[in-house]
Amino acid sequence: MNTVVSGDFERVHGHAPEGLWAAPGRVNLIGEHTDYSDGFALPMALPQTAVLAARRRTDGLLRLHSAQGDGRVTELRVAELAPGVVPGWARYPAGVVWALRERGLPVGGADLHVDSTVPAGAGLSSSAALECVVAVAYEELYGLGLGRPELARVAQYAENHFAGVPCGVMDQMASLCCTGGSALHLDSRSLEVRQVPFDLAGHGLRLLVLDTRVKHDLADGAYAALRAGCERAARLLGLPALRDLAEAELPGALSRLPAELVPLVRHVVTENARVEQAVARLADGRPEALGPVLTEGHASLRDDYGVSCPETDLAVEAAVAAGALGARMTGGGFGGSVIALVRSDGAGAVSDAVTAAFTAAGFRTPAVLEALPSTGARRIG
Ligand code: GLA
Repeated sequence: MNTVVSGDFERVHGHAPEGLWAAPGRVNLIGEHTDYSDGFALPMALPQTAVLAARRRTDGLLRLHSAQGDGRVTELRVAELAPGVVPGWARYPAGVVWALRERGLPVGGADLHVDSTVPAGAGLSSSAALECVVAVAYEELYGLGLGRPELARVAQYAENHFAGVPCGVMDQMASLCCTGGSALHLDSRSLEVRQVPFDLAGHGLRLLVLDTRVKHDLADGAYAALRAGCERAARLLGLPALRDLAEAELPGALSRLPAELVPLVRHVVTENARVEQAVARLADGRPEALGPVLTEGHASLRDDYGVSCPETDLAVEAAVAAGALGARMTGGGFGGSVIALVRSDGAGAVSDAVTAAFTAAGFRTPAVLEALPSTGARRIG
């Protein structure tokens, strides 16, 4: 991959790159739709990465090329970058450069070529991988010394204010801070992280990713509405964020909220508790005991938070019926991917059962990947 990406960079840009970096996509094990309420999550990096070759320019131009694009180079003036002016995939890398400059950091232009194996539109954070790989390359090329949590905030700022997606910080933290063999216990308020060993193979387990290959159009508006609902509920309860509501206080709090906010708050509070439960089970050396936590998390996303859809529900149901220890949608929802925790010898039966159920329902054949807890963003050449 490295020599291919370097060679492609040289062909497109006419000189050799200064370096190569990689940043992964992620799956979230548990802790969904909690990050923008300052809550907890437990993502892990995927082996699939966005690989970037980069070389600084001194003329203020940002020249972007993607192996997954239409072959054209997008040429932008760094000083003229502004929200809303860059369309398509280029808004993620360009947004990071813009966000660094918004912080007053002295970054200039670059030639960039990116080649990503993170499936786009599958809920596996292909856009965060793109942002984060540019962030780590710029940090090093321009000697910024920001550190990973700050880079995650920069990438999130780019996505919120340049690409216009009101996401939380979980995807960027996962892509930047995960380490191989571990899941990342993330506190979305302080950005403190703890690496939690997640030894699937040693326990005879595998984690399948079932990409439903659907993305429903309502996703963007619905995500913003959910986020606004959580913020309103916190305000009504007099709390900085829903993270500050303990599970024991839930019944009292729910009785003080308008009916439409009750299921949202119930999801966030119980989901934060499920993260702690999952971390405790991993710490006990019982990764198989994550299964029921995953399936309960899915029920909460489906019944309370309303971000599931027929395809993700069917994938979870068919996986569990075929012997998965647990399964849930992962990421923002409204399509995207489902993760299923399976015993190694049962993986084939689970993926066959989900595929058969999709065929019977008239859905597209799901794509099946395997998730291995992998390394976060890094220099690779
Ligand atoms: C998307 C967002 C994240 C997070 C998840 C839901 O992936 O980018 O910030 O909110 O949805 O957990």
